[in-house]
Amino acid sequence: MKKIISVVGARPNFMKVAPIHKAFKKHHDKITHLICHTGQHYDEKMSKVFFEDLELPQPDFYLGVGSGSHAEQTATVMIEFEKILINEKPDLVLVVGDVNSTIACSLTAKKLHIKVVHVEAGLRSFDMEMPEEINRILTDRISDYLFVTEKSGLENLKNEGVDDSKVFFVGNVMIDSLVHYQPKINKSNILEHFNLSPFNFCLVTLHRPSNVDTRESLEKLVNFLNILAKERKVVFPIHPRTKINLEKYALIQTLSDAIILSEPIGYIDFQALIKNAELIVTDSGGIQEESTYLGVQCITLRTSTERPSTVDIGTNQLIGVDLEKVEVACLNVLAGNKKAGIIPELWDGKAAKRIAEILSKDDLKKGMME
Ligand code: UD1
Repeated sequence: MKKIISVVGARPNFMKVAPIHKAFKKHHDKITHLICHTGQHYDEKMSKVFFEDLELPQPDFYLGVGSGSHAEQTATVMIEFEKILINEKPDLVLVVGDVNSTIACSLTAKKLHIKVVHVEAGLRSFDMEMPEEINRILTDRISDYLFVTEKSGLENLKNEGVDDSKVFFVGNVMIDSLVHYQPKINKSNILEHFNLSPFNFCLVTLHRPSNVDTRESLEKLVNFLNILAKERKVVFPIHPRTKINLEKYALIQTLSDAIILSEPIGYIDFQALIKNAELIVTDSGGIQEESTYLGVQCITLRTSTERPSTVDIGTNQLIGVDLEKVEVACLNVLAGNKKAGIIPELWDGKAAKRIAEILSKDDLKKGMME
């Protein structure tokens, strides 16, 4: 019997661990699965609603670390997680994605000689100013099992000299959730709630520090959104970081009345908005993938992406942060010039099943890196 503790911390982690939990349950004779929530995200709308929507059980451990500087947050997770590991002595610690909880828990486990599993390994933006890039590189460096979502991840790990016996190309667990919950997503009444018609509105999400932490960049974003709102209805669920800064710089009141502002939205309703949007404007990582899977037009307000398949073969366009260029790209899509896309390999709803099959084996199988 293997004891595995999976870590969730921030919003983008929940939809990745949910399918893994379901897949591990099918191997309950071989795997005991426990979930640790670090509490990096703690608001009802950033965390609790996701547990409900994704049918995740109550976490077995809750560290309650909350917000803070990077050092404070990472260090507090490490101190609290170490106590759990010493008590529980798991065989494996599984981390997902690239948030501060990911590196904090993998580092803590590795120093206690507990093997680390990284789901969503190998993604690289090559921008070391992104906290997530640092988290990704360091987590991969100390992981024992690296599960990769897209081909670029295999190349990156090969270039970094990672032993191919540790690397497995399994597909995308976030897409597993999207596939699994399609029937529920189709029943969401969020469009009626906001009085929207399908494929006739823009969905906007912005939360990257590089976009929302300074007055200058936020002012430019507000101007851009006000222009976009003249073309279509705009729905803008505001991330806490963005809201705090819009209020701090007294910019929230300068957003056009035509923009539908909302609190962060739960998983099912948010996926229904993605699925029915004419255009998405975002700086999120996960939304680039979800829109590519659904064939929805996405414009990414970043200069790099760690998910290049969404641009190379998907419906994502990486436009950068020059908002004049972003405006041109948006108007182009709204004029009907849509980018065709295909779904990346193995984004088929079965990634967690593959992970569970590999981890339930007694010995580590040879990896599948090319
Ligand atoms: C984190 C992740 C980012 C991910 C994002 C998704 C890191 C380095 N960043 O960024 O990769 O894309 O989550 O949301 O781990 N806050 C609340 N309520 C909450 C959580 C946060 O009000 O439930 C506020 C806090 O005041 C905090 C701010 O939001 O200062 C930012 O939260 P934090 O977890 O530090 O980073 P995110 O910007 O959410």
